Amino acid sequence: MRLYFAPLEGFTDAVYRQTHHRVFPGADKYFMPFVSPSASLSFTGRERFDLDPRNNAGIPAVPQILACNADYFLGTAALLRDAGYPEVNLNLGCPSGTVTAKGKGAGFLKNPDALVRFLDAVFARAPLPVSVKTRIGFASPEEWPRLRDILLQYPMQEIIVHPRTGREHYAGRPHTEILEDLLARAPFPVIYNGNVFTLAQAREIQAAFPRLSGLMLGRGVTANPALIREIRGGRGIDRETLLAFHDQLYRAYLRTWPETAVIGRMHAIMGYMSFCLGNPAKPLKALCRATHPDDYQDALRRLMDERELAHPPLFIPPGETRESAAAPLLAPAPGH
Ligand SMILES: Cc1cc2nc3c(=O)[nH]c(=O)nc-3n(C[C@H](O)[C@H](O)[C@H](O)COP(=O)(O)O)c2cc1C
Repeated sequence: MRLYFAPLEGFTDAVYRQTHHRVFPGADKYFMPFVSPSASLSFTGRERFDLDPRNNAGIPAVPQILACNADYFLGTAALLRDAGYPEVNLNLGCPSGTVTAKGKGAGFLKNPDALVRFLDAVFARAPLPVSVKTRIGFASPEEWPRLRDILLQYPMQEIIVHPRTGREHYAGRPHTEILEDLLARAPFPVIYNGNVFTLAQAREIQAAFPRLSGLMLGRGVTANPALIREIRGGRGIDRETLLAFHDQLYRAYLRTWPETAVIGRMHAIMGYMSFCLGNPAKPLKALCRATHPDDYQDALRRLMDERELAHPPLFIPPGETRESAAAPLLAPAPGH
């Protein structure tokens, strides 16, 4: 079973990927947060840094393109092939309003005819293997059978399915009921993505769908950076490794960005990683208020020293409880 680290824009950049891969080797691929090309095919400084092969050396990193224009996609794919990447991923899942309003990401799923024209062009001329990360519709899961039939016609490297609609964002249960049928039909590998936050949930999905080629984990592994290692049968997180990972990240960012930007990024990352310590509201608030490096380090040590490691470390989405976040993915949601 392959295990992939999902792209999380604002979190899993090149510095994060390198540090995670060094401290917790074991992810088969790291999908990079999307780049969204325009006619000029030019990138921002941050995108250039993130895509630079030297900053991804030794890491199985897959660039992701968000586009609804086949020429922009193909032009970017050619640049990425020239840079040495073996695969590119097409984003058909981003649910953000600014993206979907432009007909990209999950917004592309609203327009199956345009999607067919795009995919015809992309797969006729793709300069390197293309995988697809998709949701199952824009407004309703009823859109899926048509979208599925379209997607299955193309010779993609693999498909990664986050079985929610764009409108659902991250709310509610993933529609895992679409998997059995997709697995029976797909002539290429199928990877599941969505709400795998614990070892038990990973095992549950693996056992229920043995034909799945892999799992992609996002928020769960950002919160508990040892989760992929654990799923592989290795050790869970411990306090020393958590702190070492934090410190290596912090130092690596300092080599790349100004101090204030580093602290801002660490606030965001600790918003996830503090779930290893039960995501305590007060100490986390103090950490996120700290803007000076000394204050930040003081708040961090207090958080690390005062809190017990959560058993198991568990990401809890906003509005959910520990019980609902850890509940089996295939059983009815608690309380329903
Ligand atoms: C903050 C954030 C940023 C994300 N950025 C991207 C992105 O750049 N590309 C993408 O395909 N998905 C992106 N996603 C979606 C994740 O890759 C993943 O599909 C989603 O979090 C569901 O998986 P999970 O339940 O394991 O977290 C993002 C999600 C979050 C929460």
